Amino acid sequence: MKISVIGAGNVGGLTAMRLAQEGLGDIFLVDIAKGLAQGKVCDLEDTQAILKSNFNIIGTDDINEIRDSDIVVVTAGLARKPGMTREDLLNKNAQILKAVCLNIKTLAAKSIVIIVTNPLDLMTRLAQQVLGLPVNKVFGMGITLDAARFANLISKELNVAVTQIEACVIGSHGEGMLPLPRFTKVSGEPLDKIIGKDKAQELIVKTFDRGKEIVAFLGSGSAYFAPSAAIAEIVTTIAKGDSQTLGLSAYLNGEYGIKDVCIGVTCRLGKNGIEKIVELELNREELAALQDCASKLKEQFKEIK
Ligand SMILES: NC(=O)c1ccc[n+]([C@@H]2O[C@H](COP(=O)([O-])OP(=O)(O)OC[C@H]3O[C@@H](n4cnc5c(N)ncnc54)[C@H](O)[C@@H]3O)[C@@H](O)[C@H]2O)c1
Repeated sequence: MKISVIGAGNVGGLTAMRLAQEGLGDIFLVDIAKGLAQGKVCDLEDTQAILKSNFNIIGTDDINEIRDSDIVVVTAGLARKPGMTREDLLNKNAQILKAVCLNIKTLAAKSIVIIVTNPLDLMTRLAQQVLGLPVNKVFGMGITLDAARFANLISKELNVAVTQIEACVIGSHGEGMLPLPRFTKVSGEPLDKIIGKDKAQELIVKTFDRGKEIVAFLGSGSAYFAPSAAIAEIVTTIAKGDSQTLGLSAYLNGEYGIKDVCIGVTCRLGKNGIEKIVELELNREELAALQDCASKLKEQFKEIK
């Protein structure tokens, strides 16, 4: 299996490390900045003797190295700075993503492409349009990260092991994020049966603000430990040929009454990409919120120059 990670910044570098350590195949880390991917890979290679593990990882500034990849992860782009929303990044990252996807189209047209660059749902749809691949093979990582953050905050609030929590978040990886207490389970019990509405709302707001909280603490750059773990989970599922239900930014074609947009929904993921959109039985309020989020994404997509 050949897996390429484009963008060797904070998220890309750490993703390459996790994938190499998982032993999933040959990992190619690519960045436009001269020496960055090579430098990180030299450092990563040096961990092998300490970890008593062999892996094959190559760092390069030559995009041609992604040729015939089975999986391509796109993390190339600018990260948020304090005070910036993900949407502020829109046009800068759209330009980068378009250039990267044109290269993927030429060099690795049979790959499964996982988009990470923000604003995630808009960049995923743009990638689908530029690549012209089947939409089940081009999707985005965003809401598994949001669900992981929701789970962590619930675990701290209730003093329950995070492994006992299955958090459910749908919607956009951004202003339209929808953490869902009714579908979130704590030791098998729905969260809305365990805590009151106000407390649930407090946790939702904290989840919503988690990315901004991290950006403000860091001062420059945004989160990368949990994002890279979320990417590695997706890549591992595909590379090992497992099948798993998780949240992805996926193209909807009528599901939830939504069409022609990428948005975070629960999906069945397998070795060939998204096998199925798993529709949750949303109540009227949840469905309206998801549809409203989809309409906003469609409007924002039109703003891409
Ligand atoms: N979807 C998510 O959940 C999630 C989570 C974290 C970060 N992100 C996003 O991922 C992106 C990367 O974040 P980061 O923290 O790694 O940023 P970073 O600035 O550390 O790294 C980005 C890298 O992309 C490279 N790059 C730019 N244009 C390129 C091109 N054309 N080809 C190859 N490489 C190119 C840059 O040189 C840089 O090294 C950002 O857009 C960020 O907002 C998304």
